[in-house]
Amino acid sequence: MFIRNAWYVAATSQELADKPLARTLLGEKVVLFRGTDGAPTALEDRCCHRLAPLSLGDVEAGGIRCRYHGMKFDTRGQCIEIPGQDSIAPGMCVRAFQVVERHGFCWIWMGRPDLANADDIVDVHWNRAPEWPTASGYIHYKANYQLIADNLLDFSHLTFVHRTTLANAALVDARPEITAFDRGIRLNRLIVACDPSPLHGMAGKFTGKVDFWTRQVWWLPSIFENWAGSVPTGGTGEAHERAGGLHLRHFSLLTPETAQSTHYFWVQPCQFPHNEPGMIEKVGKGIDTAFAEDRWMIEAQQVVMNDSPDVKPKAIRADAALGRVRFMIDRLLEQERAASPA
Ligand code: FES
Ligand SMILES: [Fe+2]
Repeated sequence: MFIRNAWYVAATSQELADKPLARTLLGEKVVLFRGTDGAPTALEDRCCHRLAPLSLGDVEAGGIRCRYHGMKFDTRGQCIEIPGQDSIAPGMCVRAFQVVERHGFCWIWMGRPDLANADDIVDVHWNRAPEWPTASGYIHYKANYQLIADNLLDFSHLTFVHRTTLANAALVDARPEITAFDRGIRLNRLIVACDPSPLHGMAGKFTGKVDFWTRQVWWLPSIFENWAGSVPTGGTGEAHERAGGLHLRHFSLLTPETAQSTHYFWVQPCQFPHNEPGMIEKVGKGIDTAFAEDRWMIEAQQVVMNDSPDVKPKAIRADAALGRVRFMIDRLLEQERAASPA
């Protein structure tokens, strides 16, 4: 049901402290913790003795101790101590998952261990880079991640859902240039001499028409990179390369929780064409408002879909990008199914 051979965000770096964190990821209960050496660890959240959640346990040097009968597991999930017992059978273990901490996130691999390659983690280095003031947030969504993906890949909803934030009347007719590559699709748009959206107008302090661009990447299965910006119209050269522009380097990082819920992490590193203090906080508020607008619609859509499971959506022209991504995800799922042991 979910693509497993992929790196997903399990938690932000700040979320992982000395207390274990219980989180359901791809339908599995996982305990995440930072060992006494500071390294992040992810284990199945189910003690192999009597199935108590390890997330109720205590982090100790070299592992975690179950709070029920005190068995201790190392960071590979192997039991290394059973109180009152000298020998430990090799099968006394819980599943361990690979975790890599990078760019402010703890990334987890829950697929075939031999296929995990940390070089494949999407580059989010703008997150909290000193020259990129960053707003960020987390939303727990009561909807399948593919409905959120559909929304992020379809900018025709901006005009209607985000009237006070991201709406740009020119977007309805602006068809993106879509190109596929081996890890997803790229979408580029340029709208010349338009009115800035409310958010861009506020953040860029633009007084006239702008050239507005989005250079997006959908990284399969569920990461959306959106380099969007505006610059006063009329200059020479590519809009996104001209001086005086507003740059928003957005990432939406979706991690399925269950078939009906999603962990939604987002970061919004920005560069402004001015030095007005407090602007990043205002942008963060604008994104919060916009994402609440999306959630209002998508969670309602999920409820209707649950009530009418046999009704299939009908596509329109604006669905071109999301249709391609859905097709690619189905193909990856099929490949994983075919490669998994019977
Ligand atoms: S259930 Fe964990 S030690 Fe018994
Ligand atoms: Fe939206």
